[in-house]
Amino acid sequence: MTAYLNGRFLPLSEARVSPLDRGFLYADGAYEVIPVYSRHPFRVDEHLRRLQCSLDGIRLANPHDGARWKAIVQRLIAESAHEDQAVYIQITRGADDKRDPCFPPGVAPTVFSFTAPLVAPTAGQRETGVAAITVEDIRWGRCDLKTVSLLPNVLARQLAADAGCAEAIMFRGGLLTEGSSSNVFAVRDGVILTPPQDRLILPGVTSTLVLELAAARRAPFEVRPVGEEEVREADELWLTSSAKEVLAVTTLDGRPVGKGERAGKPGPVTRRMHEWFRAYRDEVMRRGRG
Ligand code: PDD
Repeated sequence: MTAYLNGRFLPLSEARVSPLDRGFLYADGAYEVIPVYSRHPFRVDEHLRRLQCSLDGIRLANPHDGARWKAIVQRLIAESAHEDQAVYIQITRGADDKRDPCFPPGVAPTVFSFTAPLVAPTAGQRETGVAAITVEDIRWGRCDLKTVSLLPNVLARQLAADAGCAEAIMFRGGLLTEGSSSNVFAVRDGVILTPPQDRLILPGVTSTLVLELAAARRAPFEVRPVGEEEVREADELWLTSSAKEVLAVTTLDGRPVGKGERAGKPGPVTRRMHEWFRAYRDEVMRRGRG
């Protein structure tokens, strides 16, 4: 598998960084994950724009312009054996010769990228939906930046895995934020609800597209603070992310989502949204641009 590290393409197994790298010592870095379908990166401009926002937010200069990033991504895609992939990009503040929290002057960033097969939901998960737990959101105040400081996300996700669940849905002070690695949508009385893209959640490339699709198809939606009870009493819940696309949550904390005979099954609004997403994605891919 090929990787890109600090200007060179090399086998991933040969890529090495210093133990003094600030990504390792301080989680001082930002990252992106770009989905690739049939060897075409999807929404690459949106991902590169968010990468720029994350780097600006942590005061780290972007080592490459958009054209160079796209060339790196294309070469990694071309050298992979897989049609559908997830390209990972990470930039850290580099490796100094000592451990000091302040930005090291004159130190080059560490720039790393590789691609792996896209891990999409299974056919079974698509059909039945997935189970999620809820946890308190204990992250910092800049969750809009996609930084490699992911320990609370890791701990939340492991709690979900321990419970046999696919995702942990987080609340802060009784309000929905997001999943450990996804955005969250609820449906109540036919209206799609999702929290605003403030500093407490990541502005998902997928969730932004989902809102665009809802607006274009005139599906009723509200972007506003969503209370914990609204989530627990929702008719439908779904997650979005670059890997999951639109994925129904059908069990929350062991209880079926929704009421009546639809309880515990992916709902009609979720299914329709995923169809819209797929139709849009396939159309964009057919035209050969992400
Ligand atoms: N994570 N919220 C969080 C905390 C995330 O980590 C992610 C994605 C999302 C969804 O964003 P997008 O739709 O742009 O993928 C929301 C990626 C996939 C990851 O960390 O692997």
